[in-house]
Amino acid sequence: MTEIPSELTIGQLSERSGVPTSALRFYEREGLINSRRTTGNQRRYHRTTLRRVAFVRASQSVGIPLALIREVLGFLPEDTPPTKEFWARASHCWTEAINDRITKLERMRDRFTACVGCGCLSFTECALINPQDKLAERGPGAHLLA
Ligand code: FES
Repeated sequence: MTEIPSELTIGQLSERSGVPTSALRFYEREGLINSRRTTGNQRRYHRTTLRRVAFVRASQSVGIPLALIREVLGFLPEDTPPTKEFWARASHCWTEAINDRITKLERMRDRFTACVGCGCLSFTECALINPQDKLAERGPGAHLLA
């Protein structure tokens, strides 16, 4: 395997991480990664950015919002890669958020299952369209008309 140079162009970072350059620019705009500019105004990324990108991708893959990822990465000094221990701490903190997402998805699945075969698509009674609707807790169908 070839050694990673101390700085990477955006193309090199993209190639090594598998993340499109457009996404890398987006990450930079969002403050997840940073670069310096050459005299020709080209981006140069510290090689440790590769691990930051890996951290962002791994976090995104489990549905962690970018704002939370940015907040956690903010604890790292610039050009400091997230270590294995850092990832372990962050993922431990996010376990509750992931469990909340799973609970919400299970609730959505239950609502969807209740809707299957109903087809009313009622703005006032369908639990999917109107999740705050108390009548929807009675199950699918137009309860006020019954
Ligand atoms: S389609 Fe959702 S309750 Fe009828």
